[in-house]
Amino acid sequence: VRIGFIGVGGIAGNYLRSLDRLGAQVTAVCDVDDSRAQSAAELRGARVYHHHEEMLDKEPLDALFVCVPPFAHSNQEILAAQRGIALFVAKPVALTLEKAREVEKAVAAAGVVNQVGYMWRYADITEEAKCIIGSREVGLVLGHVLTSLPGTAWWRVFARSGGQIVEQSTHVFDLARYFGGEVQQVFAWGRRKLIPPADAPTLDFEDVTTVNLDFVNGAVGNVSSTSAIRGGRYSVEVIGRNLHLNLNYVSDTLTGTVDGESVDMKAEKSGYFEQVESFLQAVRQKDQSLVKSSYADAARTLAVTLAANASLQSGRVELLPTTDH
Ligand SMILES: NC(=O)c1ccc[n+]([C@@H]2O[C@H](COP(=O)([O-])OP(=O)(O)OC[C@H]3O[C@@H](n4cnc5c(N)ncnc54)[C@H](O)[C@@H]3O)[C@@H](O)[C@H]2O)c1
Repeated sequence: VRIGFIGVGGIAGNYLRSLDRLGAQVTAVCDVDDSRAQSAAELRGARVYHHHEEMLDKEPLDALFVCVPPFAHSNQEILAAQRGIALFVAKPVALTLEKAREVEKAVAAAGVVNQVGYMWRYADITEEAKCIIGSREVGLVLGHVLTSLPGTAWWRVFARSGGQIVEQSTHVFDLARYFGGEVQQVFAWGRRKLIPPADAPTLDFEDVTTVNLDFVNGAVGNVSSTSAIRGGRYSVEVIGRNLHLNLNYVSDTLTGTVDGESVDMKAEKSGYFEQVESFLQAVRQKDQSLVKSSYADAARTLAVTLAANASLQSGRVELLPTTDH
């Protein structure tokens, strides 16, 4: 499998280390920052490109990792899909639903294997929780994203990142959907309240938000986020009949009770490595059924987070497009 990269910053480093561990062959690397492209390529004997179109024209790739910031998605995925190249895209897949839909259509038309980097779907605690929940009815899903402010310049600018909900809390919204099913409406409040302007002059969005979720199947939920604390927590609590599970993706634990029995598990697989391993297998076998986080599915998570942002703006309940549930 000949693999290419577009964007080799922070998260690409993580994916590249997993690929190195798997002995995979990275043959071409593109970044608008030439020194980053150079250093990622040198280690692996890959060719370097500044423009992704040139790379896609010249390189016979089997798979492409798109790891650019949210605002930088243009035609990378569409050009790759048209060339029959399998796609692994870092979340969030875009900043607008129109863009995501356009790519989703191109990917479906080309029939290429496609995956989005929602790594926690591949964690063993998630698999165990899915298995325990089985066909039980879920009534309440509670998510938390409590973090400190990332230093990355683009992250702090709404037009570039989409804000904390779209860029970061997306992982927990995605898990809320994974456990709770599709969301039909959301209602959000948020404030820029805790981080003093002098500490983050470019930050132009809320630092505390809370988003209520109404699921199609009748469950309800909430995802609350802040970027104003030290340390951090990414967690999801799932409550059903005779079921209470707490998944903490920072302490890597699954705890709770089911039918009066306690559940207590420490994760051995965080999902980061496993998502890349699973993607490579899907590419080799040309088998999309091995993918737990397809592009189309990730577009539905994007839709929920964009609806939350819309609700922050409108102060009203926002309905999800009916095509999303
Ligand atoms: N755990 C996760 O799933 C996780 C963690 C961090 C980041 N991410 C996601 O990964 C994406 C990238 O984030 P990051 O933290 O790696 O950012 P980053 O700023 O560290 O790296 C992005 C890289 O993309 C390059 N780039 C920007 N525009 C480009 C273009 N048009 N063509 C080629 N290269 C371009 C930049 O020069 C930079 O090297 C974001 O969507 C982010 O949300 C996911």
